[in-house]
This record gives sequence, structure tokens and C-alpha cells, in this order.
Amino acid sequence: MKDGNARLAGTGLTLAYDKRTITENLDVAVPDGSFTVVVGPNACGKSTLLRALARILKPSAGSVVLDGRPIAGWPAKKLARTLGLLPQSSIAPEGITVADLVSRGRYPHQSLLRQWSREDERVVGESMAATGVQDLADRQVDELSGGQRQRVWIAMALAQQTPLLLLDEPTTYLDIAHQIEVLDLCARLHEEGRTVVAVLHDLNHAARYATHLIAMRDGGIVAEGDPSSVVTADLVEQVFRLPCRVIDCPETGTPLVVPAARARIPAAH
Ligand SMILES: Nc1ncnc2c1ncn2[C@@H]1O[C@H](COP(=O)(O)OP(=O)(O)OP(=O)(O)O)[C@@H](O)[C@H]1O
Ligand SMILES: [Mg+2]
Repeated sequence: MKDGNARLAGTGLTLAYDKRTITENLDVAVPDGSFTVVVGPNACGKSTLLRALARILKPSAGSVVLDGRPIAGWPAKKLARTLGLLPQSSIAPEGITVADLVSRGRYPHQSLLRQWSREDERVVGESMAATGVQDLADRQVDELSGGQRQRVWIAMALAQQTPLLLLDEPTTYLDIAHQIEVLDLCARLHEEGRTVVAVLHDLNHAARYATHLIAMRDGGIVAEGDPSSVVTADLVEQVFRLPCRVIDCPETGTPLVVPAARARIPAAH
């Protein structure tokens, strides 16, 4: 979708690290109120794009516009109250407890005049409950399992209560039940009116949950739109070089990718 009116959109984006260009002249728009999912092979530029959309990475050309104004000019706190980013990997300050880390999500809502309040306490509690980490509140983050830690970071992003939420692989490290729990939570947030963007590796989850799917390869967008039109065997082969069949999910009717059995894949050489 190349929609100039979207709340969050990038135009003519060239994204690079030092001299290495990852994407060139990319146009991307996040439909308002969507649950947008970005898929694509490792190193194709998904995290790079998310970082640019969240102003962590400055484009070498082009610009990101949020609510009609270039994101580059947004005051930091106002931006943090509007757009939250869960990075692909984060390191917690040493020794910090779960409750303290989640509380940091409330910083953008505080000021000299507005100190820690009951409302902050309530939101932190709710965010921990929504991600099932309330029982870990007093534990140190660096002593948790990978999946527990991931859910704590999601709780922190939730506590920020932003209308736009960008999540880079929120289901990494999670067992299948927790993956579904987190994705259901994202779907609920989306239904309640938030715009959610998530990078996911599981195409079946992407197809099940996305209202708008973006498939990337080599720093570009190869296809986007409704998952049922984007997730085809041809597209999966083109994007991931994976022969597969796409069938209807018996549970949801959304596309289900079944990789071809080894015997059916022609030998590479
Ligand atoms: N900080 C960095 N400095 C230099 N190069 C980087 C940096 N971060 C990423 N890259 C490079 O940019 C390219 C895109 O990386 P990116 O992290 O955006 O990929 P991705 O699609 O998110 O991959 P993955 O699925 O593995 O998370 C890769 O070639 C990567 O090596
Ligand atoms: Mg990534």
C-alpha cells in the first residue's frame, strides 16, 4: 500500500549502515488501525525498516512521516507516547527487577508536574498481567528464561500505551502456547484500535493474524496486501526459495504453508 495518508509511512527510504546500503528508495505505508506483519528471509532488512520507522535509524535518503509530520522533528517524549518499539534484542540494565523494567514504559508519561501515579501503577500491573509475568514482578530480569524475558519486554512496550506499536519478532523464544497468547494479545490491541506492526518468521502465524502482510526480500517489498492474496506457493518460493504447498488452515481458513517434503525438492546440484 503506497498511501500518502497513512499515519506512519516512509517515502523514498534509503537505509544504510556506514557504506552498506540495505534498502534503496523504498516506499512503505502502515495502514491505520491495521495489524501489519512483515515477513522475509534473514538479513533482508526487516529490523532495519522497523528501526527507521521508529526513528532509531536515520535514513540516508527519504523520510518517515508520522501523523503528517516528519518523524525526525518529533520531540522525544511525544514520540515515545505515540509510537513504541520492541527491538529484536534488548539488554536490561544489570540487576533490574521485572516490575522496575516494565515501569520504565511509563517514563514518557511523566514530567516534573506529573510524577508516578496510581494510574501508572495500574497500567504496569495490567501490562504484566496481559503478558503473564505478574508472578515474576520481583525477580531480576537477567535471571529469567529467554521466553520469560521476552514477555517482560513486551509488557514494557505495552505499558507505554502508545497508539502505534512496532514489535520486532515478539514471539522469539516463546513456546507455541505463549506465541499464540502474545499474538492473540496483539490482535486484541488491534481490535481495540491500536495500529500494530510485527515482524514474524512464522508464515502461518503471519497469515492467521495479519490484516496487512508485507513480504520483503533483499531490502525491497516484493508483495503486500491481504494475507490470502499474498501467501501463495509462488510467492513463498520467490521470497524464501522454498518449494511448498499452500492449503487452507482447517481452523481459520487462512493460508497454511506446508514445505515440500525433501524427496520432492529437486537436488541443488
Ligand atoms: N548495526 C548494523 N551495522 C551494520 N550492518 C548491519 C547492522 N544491523 C544490521 N546490519 C545488516 O543489515 C542487513 C539487514 O539486517 P536486518 O537486521 O534488518 O535483517 P532482518 O531482516 O531483520 O533479519 P533477521 O530475520 O535475521 O532478524 C544485514 O545484512 C545485516 O548484516
Ligand atoms: Mg531482524
